[in-house]
Amino acid sequence: MAESMQGLKRSHRCAELSRKNLGEQVTVMGWVQKTRNTGGLIFVDLRDRSGLLQITFNSERLSEELFHKAYRLRSEFVIAVTGTVVEREGGVNKNLTTGEIEIAAKQLRVLAEADTPPFPIEENSKTKEELRLKYRYLDLRRPDLQANLMLRSKVCMLTRTFLAEEGFLEIETPMLTKSTPEGARDYLVPSRVHPGSFYALPQSPQLFKQLLMCSGYDRYFQIARCFRDEDLRADRQPEFTQIDMELSFVDVDDVIDVNERLLAKLFREAVGVDVQLPIKRMTWQEAMDRFGSDKPDLRFGMELHDVTELVKDCEFTVFRSAVADGGSVRGINAKGQGGMPRKKIDALVEFAKGYGAKGLAYLAINEDGTYKSSFAKFMKDEEMNALVHALEGEPGDLLLFAADKKKLVYDVLGALRLELASQMGLLDKDKYCFVWITEFPLLEWSEEQGRYTAMHHPFTMPMEEDLPYLETEPGRVRAKAYDIVLNGTELGGGSVRIHQNDIQERMFEALGFTKEAAHEQFGFLLEAFRYGVPPHAGLAYGLDRLVMLMAKEDSIRDVIAFPKVKDASCLMSEAPNVVDQKQLEELGIEVVKKEGE
Ligand code: AMO
Ligand code: AMP
Repeated sequence: MAESMQGLKRSHRCAELSRKNLGEQVTVMGWVQKTRNTGGLIFVDLRDRSGLLQITFNSERLSEELFHKAYRLRSEFVIAVTGTVVEREGGVNKNLTTGEIEIAAKQLRVLAEADTPPFPIEENSKTKEELRLKYRYLDLRRPDLQANLMLRSKVCMLTRTFLAEEGFLEIETPMLTKSTPEGARDYLVPSRVHPGSFYALPQSPQLFKQLLMCSGYDRYFQIARCFRDEDLRADRQPEFTQIDMELSFVDVDDVIDVNERLLAKLFREAVGVDVQLPIKRMTWQEAMDRFGSDKPDLRFGMELHDVTELVKDCEFTVFRSAVADGGSVRGINAKGQGGMPRKKIDALVEFAKGYGAKGLAYLAINEDGTYKSSFAKFMKDEEMNALVHALEGEPGDLLLFAADKKKLVYDVLGALRLELASQMGLLDKDKYCFVWITEFPLLEWSEEQGRYTAMHHPFTMPMEEDLPYLETEPGRVRAKAYDIVLNGTELGGGSVRIHQNDIQERMFEALGFTKEAAHEQFGFLLEAFRYGVPPHAGLAYGLDRLVMLMAKEDSIRDVIAFPKVKDASCLMSEAPNVVDQKQLEELGIEVVKKEGE
């Protein structure tokens, strides 16, 4: 039944037509959104990626055969219609860009018939995400997803144009490679030619882009696919895309400058948002102290307050012993939440426990100025007043305190701050608050590994003034690293790289790498650096996260054409899957079943 194109040419996309085209003969093609039949008149809403257009089939003007063909149309049939653009007879539809016109059909071709889809193709679908992901190709027909992918394409185009104009070269780097040092688990690909050997899929193009600087390419960029076998969250996928760049003969400010202009261009031209330049900068320490997070959401306040000094001698053991153990006591003020019912406060305590807190102490300031508190009975009046004063508490406020090791207090209050902001409706998606986080610690202590690990990666340059402490107090050395944060999401990050051999060796030593181990992993890079390496620095954005925030979506799944679900599988293609025994044999691989499988 399906007809073919045979000389037929599309003249317009549906939503490209307007009053301007009145009287013109046009040919449009797309999917039937829905049909309505009023006896002598059939209305068809035709959909393509540009939008909807109303077509009318009039029995008085069309042959019986053609009218009957129109009568048989069902949702998701693919059709081509030739007709005249006329004023809409049944009144204007203000919800449609093409709401003032319709096409009076003269010809119809059914290019494909369609089964009834498992769910309606409509904006803001209420269908369960699992079902939609199984039929992703149908879900991708929905206007909201189409808008997201068109936005993504636009961001890529704008990025390419901007970076090319700034003298960047687009260069591809390998997918089949060796382990890269971004700290996640690798995806491995077995080699048939070298049985027992594996490629690693790149976690980022990091090593290769540094090599390109060695080779004199000066300014590189790539819209690069990256692979990381880590636990999935709303803003993480096992494969994702970076806008990756590296520049030679630059320092921190040069990288920040070109990237601020890139961001301003992308937001202006893709979503009409003006980014105020220069973007605010904040040191890592300040971000932790004020927001309990290295990716602070600056759309709202609710900052952390350090009350360690105020409570170090109080009778409340929870506070006093946390301080005595070298910990910290900090609090946040949830403005106007003093009337929160006990049940909701208990839920907040449970939330805090989810982040490792032993508890959460609260102090509600009643409208009459008296307090309702979980720990007042242990405290002197002046101590309570001092806490209220420190947190700028006013009648009607709810103050929440965590006492523990400093890092844990940051984590707990940082997360609580976001949870409260969400409950209080403070997360305005129309507001874009950018901030650069700078001066990250170079190293962080890993309890698990019993050694320092690189917070960014092992090629990140320490701040010059901290170099003397690399051996004596590694924990206090700050890095020439920077993250760009938007509304509490880490959009991107990068650093100035080490290009001096002696510093690189000291860095490896601080990380507990032997010379052999370093060469085993990164030998080709270290070798390359012996032949003349320029000072260089770079940065990479998570493209998916960038587009997610631009599109005001909550998950990067909504801006990726074919995303994976939580257990890293694809519900549509059913990857990953078992493979033929023969394939395994060729690769010299034997699958060992764990007990219970
Ligand atoms: P980093 O590891 O910080 O740096 O990654 C850069 C950015 O990539 C995004 N991102 C992710 N997006 C989706 N899913 C994931 N699993 C995921 N992991 C990371 C984030 C992040 O900010 N080579 C360095 C960059 C450099 O130093 O130049 C790197 O990869 O938005
Ligand atoms: P408890 O002495 O365990 O009954 O706790 C008294 C109050 O202090 C309760 O409201 C607990 O939730 C809270 N609390 C317990 N541990 C901590 C902690 N580490 N930080 C803040 N508050 C806590």
